[in-house]
Amino acid sequence: MTVLVGLSAIQAVLVGVVSAAVVLIAAGAALAALRRPRRTPELDIPKGMQPGPSDPDLEKPLLEKALFWGVVLVVLVALWVPAVWLLEPNVNADDTRVLVDQSIERGRLITMPGTEENQLGFNCERCHGPGLTGGQNIYNSRVVPVPNLQTVCERLTVDQIVTTISEGRQGTDMPSWSVRFAGAMDDQQINDLLNYILFLNRNIPEESNICINPPQPGATPSPTASPSPSP
Ligand code: HEC
Repeated sequence: MTVLVGLSAIQAVLVGVVSAAVVLIAAGAALAALRRPRRTPELDIPKGMQPGPSDPDLEKPLLEKALFWGVVLVVLVALWVPAVWLLEPNVNADDTRVLVDQSIERGRLITMPGTEENQLGFNCERCHGPGLTGGQNIYNSRVVPVPNLQTVCERLTVDQIVTTISEGRQGTDMPSWSVRFAGAMDDQQINDLLNYILFLNRNIPEESNICINPPQPGATPSPTASPSPSP
């Protein structure tokens, strides 16, 4: 949060500096235009055929004018480039946030029943329950419990979640969803589901959240991990 506040202070200063520069340049241009009296040419000679500026003009006023505008442009670019460089990380972070939010929303719609209004729906809720809080399904004429996905980050890492959704679980009623495994979803849809599941699990404390805090290689797997058949 302090970083954000600090950056927005820098932003405010930069915006102030840049707008001051723009105002100064505009005022300068307006003054210069006012000072120069408009002359109407006596003869109607086309612009391209009129004589060019005289040598004394070229050597003093025109040269100085060119130098002045050169300096103005250099100063403008010298302010502009660092301003973009300073603001760009924030712009990118904001864009990323918007994209992730949209992905989470699509993931939420995928888990809900497909209807006329919700064309994205694949109805994970049918087994995993409303809000994916856990449910039941009839499998091999037995009622089987279906896991709560709001706590799945206590049991599975991100890779395991993606593998489970993509490949399903053999010997259970969890189907495979990825087109790579005879399912109906592309990688974007599975990624949206993952983002939604991570969003649902965002309040699980970091110590027990193996999605954001995966066990180090070599560490013993958590005893609560649900059985995942090796492929
Ligand atoms: C036909 C019922 C059914 C549907 C539909 C279904 N699942 Fe499952 N899912 C299961 C069952 C049953 C399990 C537990 C499998 C096991 O015991 O290993 C499971 C397990 C999972 C797991 C692993 C959970 C854990 O704690 O190990 C994830 C993640 C998952 N499902 C995601 C999804 C998503 C996303 C969808 C929708 C695209 C979906 N499931 C649709 C039945 C279903």
